[in-house]
Amino acid sequence: MTDKTTGTHGTTAKDTAANGDRPLVELRGAGKSYGNIRALHGVDLEVHPGRVTCVLGDNGAGKSTLIKIISGLHQHTEGEFLVDGEPVRFSTPREALDKGIATVYQDLAVVPLMPVWRNFFLGSEMTKGPWPLRRLDIERMKKTADEELRNMGIVLDDLEQPIGTLSGGQRQCVAIARAVYFGARVLILDEPTAALGVKQSGVVLKYIAAARDRGLGVIFITHNPHHAYMVGDHFSVLRLGTMELSADRSEVSLEELTNHMAGGAELAALKHELAQVRGVDVEELPEEADLKASAAATPEGKS
Ligand SMILES: Nc1ncnc2c1ncn2[C@@H]1O[C@H](COP(=O)(O)OP(=O)(O)OP(=O)(O)O)[C@@H](O)[C@H]1O
Ligand SMILES: [Mg+2]
Repeated sequence: MTDKTTGTHGTTAKDTAANGDRPLVELRGAGKSYGNIRALHGVDLEVHPGRVTCVLGDNGAGKSTLIKIISGLHQHTEGEFLVDGEPVRFSTPREALDKGIATVYQDLAVVPLMPVWRNFFLGSEMTKGPWPLRRLDIERMKKTADEELRNMGIVLDDLEQPIGTLSGGQRQCVAIARAVYFGARVLILDEPTAALGVKQSGVVLKYIAAARDRGLGVIFITHNPHHAYMVGDHFSVLRLGTMELSADRSEVSLEELTNHMAGGAELAALKHELAQVRGVDVEELPEEADLKASAAATPEGKS
């Protein structure tokens, strides 16, 4: 369809440094109601170039609603949404993409039987020759896909293999490399490690770090505080649609983050309930007082 002649791919942290530390994307008191269901309320979030912002939260906390606003699928119904400091309101994902905001969904939109290189260019194929004789530039697409994957440190034996034969982790990596190539400045990853084993999760985390090192602002949605803490610069925890915690890495330890995610107070209440039941071992569960103490303690255990 379109030739890849323009775009901002290759944008680096250096280019964006000219803008000072202005966030690429910012939410101020943003919220979203579906009819009279308030899914999200009063959320503040900043995405900076060369940083990974992790959004954590339990099922139904509002994570997907949050990224749908940023990726142009839904519109916020309260507060402000700014891109490059300008208030915006996207009506379609295309508008978000035009601003360099790319989203990699968990159920990746790939054609399983098509080769890797073909999926890399899906919807934005390279062509050659003048209209009406224009045809696909297969050689150039193969070469470029190979180069771009290698640039991200992704080595696949054969780009002719159907993408359906790659592992879930490898497919996520191809999607990340693709977003980087097509000029993304902000990369949103919705639970990229949720269905993956330890080794594959490690591979995906590595490419999240690679995208960050190329100067992209990354929004990493996850249930897993350990995964978040391995790559995150900032942590936002959502609970029942509001922001329960928003902290830089220097302000929160992995232990505290895990307590926030585990719903520390709820766990203590559960312990109290279960203590009455025979055959349930609650010794290892924390006391509410311990959790309060650890939340108030100065951060430690950071790497
Ligand atoms: N289209 C919709 N219409 C009405 N309510 C919705 C809609 N989408 C989401 N909700 C509600 O908004 C709340 C937040 O949902 P959301 O999908 O954002 O949560 P989530 O954090 O992504 O959860 P999960 O981890 O299960 O994906 C939920 O209570 C959900 O039922
Ligand atoms: Mg979700």
